Parts: sequence; structure tokens; C-alpha cells
Amino acid sequence: MYTEKVMEHFRNPRNVGEIEDADGVGQVGNPVCGDLMKITIKVDNDRISDIKFQTFGCGAAIATSSIVTELAKGLTIEEALKISRQSVAEALGGLPPQKMHCSNLAADGLRRAIVDYLRRNDRIDRIKELGLEKELEKMEKGEMDDHGELCEA
Ligand code: FES
Repeated sequence: MYTEKVMEHFRNPRNVGEIEDADGVGQVGNPVCGDLMKITIKVDNDRISDIKFQTFGCGAAIATSSIVTELAKGLTIEEALKISRQSVAEALGGLPPQKMHCSNLAADGLRRAIVDYLRRNDRIDRIKELGLEKELEKMEKGEMDDHGELCEA
């Protein structure tokens, strides 16, 4: 039911850990399955130069996070925001339908890390331009859950 690529990333996940002096930190959680995700990024000139993840999650969450970190490294923040659960699943050669929601954890964590990077640099205008003000609002309220309804699938 899992592709060889998913299994390979699950067995040997890339970029696991936490960047100590990160420029942005994104955390998301899901109250339904209890999975948690933390993404830390280093950014140079709006380009992601390093990225790491930590998760208390299922196997699919580990594999999708690993591939998200590979996809995002070297991208501009604008390009990285285009990483969707669809592109993550495609990069892994597909995911079982009931596991599609797992790919959201890392993509959402990455989006929050980017918002955090921009807010640390007082670039609220850029957050608005990129349509991320709702995300910022949730982060300021300390809301962790971003996709509870998807995880019920
Ligand atoms: Fe995998 Fe929810 S079961 S993230």
C-alpha cells in the first residue's frame, strides 16, 4: 500500500532535527490523530538555505516531512509556499487516500515557519501580499490545529 519511495523516506528520513539558530519556526498539531510537527528554517535573501523537521507522527507523516524538506531546500519562500499535499504525494509516487492528510502536516509547518520568518523581520506587508494573514492570526492566538477535519478521514 505504500510506494517504495515512501518506505525509503520512512526508513531513512532526511533533515531530521532542529536548527538551533533558526530564522523561522513553524509548529502544527492535530488533535484527532495527535500528530505534531515542528519545522525550523534558515533563510538567506528570502531563499530557504536549510530546513529540518521533528515529528511525533505516523509513518506517512515522517516520509512526507522528509520529502518536503528535500523539496523546499534551495527554494525561495514564494516557491516553497506552493508545495501542496498534491505535490508531496506526487514526489513520493502516491499515498494511500486515507493518508493524504498526513502530507499537510509538514506543508503547514513549513508555511508557518515562513510566516514566522517574515514576522520576525517586521514584514507584515509581505505576509499580506502572500495571503498569509489568516495563518498569522492563528499563530498569534496560539492555535495549533489547522486541519482537524481532514484528519478525520
Ligand atoms: Fe498521519 Fe494524522 S495520521 S498525520
